[in-house]
Amino acid sequence: MLTNTDLLNKAKQVSNNAYCKYSKFAVGACVLYSSGKTYLGCNVENSSYGLSLCAERNAISTAIAMGENSQLIKIAIYSPSSKKCFPCGACRQWLQEFNSEKNIEIILEDENSNCISYYLTEIFPYSFELNVI
Ligand code: THU
Repeated sequence: MLTNTDLLNKAKQVSNNAYCKYSKFAVGACVLYSSGKTYLGCNVENSSYGLSLCAERNAISTAIAMGENSQLIKIAIYSPSSKKCFPCGACRQWLQEFNSEKNIEIILEDENSNCISYYLTEIFPYSFELNVI
């Protein structure tokens, strides 16, 4: 059973692979599914800046491409350039797409290099929902 520290260490490892030649801001993400499997992602930038892909969405896309269909339960996010590297708004909406009653746990590293957890609905209340009236 992987601990939150294990997940954060995996996010740290993959942040080393970030392709971030424009911002120099590396990010790594590790998603844990109820299957027990983890998938990694890093940010991938582009000379057309707006096309940059965030680490979180890269990790989720990888999980889907690998055929993962269990519940996304945790995500660890790490940047060597920032303490508490929260997911951006777009990534919060992506996480919301795969959220369940369990509420995805978001694991970050705090100022003292300890793991700290937040829950998706806490940091992203009133998300967009495709409800047609
Ligand atoms: N970035 C992420 O990978 N995740 C986020 O949630 C926010 C930002 C990346 C995008 C870009 O490559 C760099 O960080 C600076 O914005």
